[in-house]
Amino acid sequence: MELKTSRLDLTPLDPEEHADALHAAYGDPVVMSWWTRPATATEAETRQLLAADAAQPGAALWAIRRAGDPAAIGMAGLLGGTAIPGLSWILAESEWGHGFATEAASAIVEHAFGAAGHDRVEAWVESTNTRSIAVCRKIGLTERGRLAQRYEHRDRPHEMIVLGRARHPEPTSVLHLEPVLPVTDVAATTELLRAALAGRVSFSAGEPPEVAGMVFGPWSAGPSVQFVRKPRGECAPVVLTLDVVAGFDELYAAVTAAGTAGVEPPVREPWGRREFAFRLPEGHRIVVSTPG
Ligand SMILES: CC(C)(COP(=O)(O)OP(=O)(O)OC[C@H]1O[C@@H](n2cnc3c(N)ncnc32)[C@H](O)[C@@H]1OP(=O)(O)O)[C@@H](O)C(=O)NCCC(=O)NCCS
Repeated sequence: MELKTSRLDLTPLDPEEHADALHAAYGDPVVMSWWTRPATATEAETRQLLAADAAQPGAALWAIRRAGDPAAIGMAGLLGGTAIPGLSWILAESEWGHGFATEAASAIVEHAFGAAGHDRVEAWVESTNTRSIAVCRKIGLTERGRLAQRYEHRDRPHEMIVLGRARHPEPTSVLHLEPVLPVTDVAATTELLRAALAGRVSFSAGEPPEVAGMVFGPWSAGPSVQFVRKPRGECAPVVLTLDVVAGFDELYAAVTAAGTAGVEPPVREPWGRREFAFRLPEGHRIVVSTPG
């Protein structure tokens, strides 16, 4: 279905017809800096990539054209094969800075909530992709969560922001899930995790502490855990997994240097993660995990 905006015509993506013009975007390493794969080397490769994306079940992709001009300047649409319809957009670099991506994306969201009948759309954007984050915000998507990811062509994991918009505005219910671990010595535990994982005590009550909260990361809010004091014998061990995106090897070095018990060195797990683990004195197993 054709979509029109004041300055743009959006035509259903046809890899055969549009690969030629869209190679200016998909073949450009700068434009592809944040894509799930490197820039394509040839127009034929661009065509294959477009055909693969268009063939995903549920995909609805459009070539972006200036009104009345047959040449595609970019692509935008809803990715297929995702649980929640995922917005995607790309423009040749020469077309950045005119508001075209926002104009196209806005029409696509209207289509998603209108003719397509979706209740939600979301976009997964790398935290350094400020232009794309700006597009999301301008079309009403707000941050819903973050996750660590690693692309095959990169040697490091990166931080993805999941932004979303619901057709009918709704309050967010669960903001954060905070595990509460029983430990025999709250102060010793927070000191150990300060040294090992750079955790920060956010609150503490009692002398010696009966309960304390610990936040990971430098900001006022972040992943957190609570510790409550229990007598020995009342601390059934649990496993806590920390999803980290940067500094995995440095954390391993710090954990080892902090003299923690039961350190299990990093291994590459079959589910595609690198993980190491250590134990708190009560037997709780702390697993530090990163995309492998
Ligand atoms: C993401 C991307 C599509 C955004 O393109 P963009 O041109 O920056 O985005 P917009 O369409 O919102 O345009 C906004 C810019 O146009 C300017 N602008 C000019 N005329 C405008 C108008 N009439 N209306 C709105 N904005 C206008 C804005 O001031 C803004 O410029 P600035 O960023 O210099 O302040 C583009 O950077 C891109 O292709 N990136 C690579 C691919 C990619 O990462 N895709 C997303 C993966 S999640």
